[in-house]
Amino acid sequence: MSILPLARPEIVAMKPYSSARTEAPGRGILLNANESPWSLLSDAGPADSTAVSELNRYPDPQPFKLVSALAKLYGVSEQRVLVTRGSDEGIDLLTRVFCRAGKDAIAQCPPNFGMYRIAAQTQGAAIVSIPRQADNDFRMDGDQLLAALEMDPRIKLLFLTSPNNPSGDLIDRGLLLDLLEAANGKAIVVLDEAYAEFSRQPSASELVNRYENLVVLRTLSKAWGAAGLRCGAALAQEEIISLLRRIIAPYPLASPVISLALHMLSDDMSGRQQQMLEDMQENKGYLLKLLTGRSFIQNIWPGEANFVLFRARKAEELLSFCAEQGIVLRGFSSEPLLQGCIRISVGSKDELSALKTVLDEWEIKLRGILS
Ligand SMILES: Cc1ncc(COP(=O)(O)O)c(C=O)c1O
Repeated sequence: MSILPLARPEIVAMKPYSSARTEAPGRGILLNANESPWSLLSDAGPADSTAVSELNRYPDPQPFKLVSALAKLYGVSEQRVLVTRGSDEGIDLLTRVFCRAGKDAIAQCPPNFGMYRIAAQTQGAAIVSIPRQADNDFRMDGDQLLAALEMDPRIKLLFLTSPNNPSGDLIDRGLLLDLLEAANGKAIVVLDEAYAEFSRQPSASELVNRYENLVVLRTLSKAWGAAGLRCGAALAQEEIISLLRRIIAPYPLASPVISLALHMLSDDMSGRQQQMLEDMQENKGYLLKLLTGRSFIQNIWPGEANFVLFRARKAEELLSFCAEQGIVLRGFSSEPLLQGCIRISVGSKDELSALKTVLDEWEIKLRGILS
């Protein structure tokens, strides 16, 4: 007999998050998960020997040196940092702390990162969606958002993403401040800045020092080339941090992760990271150049992150063609506003050259299909 009737019906009914890695296991040229093509620690050797020789001990739940390094990096005090297993964990903790099942809601602006939905559904919170404006480069609809905050008392968390995934656009600083004011006493504003380092707009992390209803999520997954480390941070005033600490797993970070993250954030690595960001910028220019002017591409949104979004004719066929040639891109067939859209992460020069060859071939093949 099936055990399914024993499970929570809403979990049984839930459409699971389709992560880039589950969609395409780690083979081929992976341009689908907004990872860095380089690891900053590739020549760092194993995690330091203390982390290994002390594996018999539980790690420090919030290792002070790491908290301190992240506080310095993001410009807040140590009391305002919670180290998490990537931003994913921050999203989950916030939803569980602020949303009561069956009563409260999150607000989000799709198309955006899929884990806001998953966290809400897992918690039994409702989802209020204020869609981005398809005819305005997917910019958020500030008026609708403000109206939703005003009208819907269920909204306890408002997820904003800047730069947004997958459109790459930024939130206007004036709108952010208006939303923080409008949400005061009603909801927590969560600003997910997973891609902030790639953008020209400075991070809003320092606003945490001024607004008690703001949480900024940062991560080492993207601009630090460490998606596999699973290390991020929630930045907020002490009251929120202490609530999140009540429900976080007792030992969220494995000792080798702590050790590697500390190594990553040591002073002598910052030059390397800066270089990586510059290389990424250069490669993004190359990616944009190789996409521009192609007959099958209808629109390109360069955005401010380490990926580019574009709309193409026969997008599904293009995705399959690239996959057959070993290049994995991200499509959005289930997103109503993103029909025909494809997202490409900025890869290494070699990866992008391989992509160029495949797109050249596709251009010829498509001409045959359409004629
Ligand atoms: C907007 C956004 N937030 C958060 C994440 C997850 O980041 P992490 O690896 O820190 O959990 C991603 C990953 O793609 C993302 O695009």
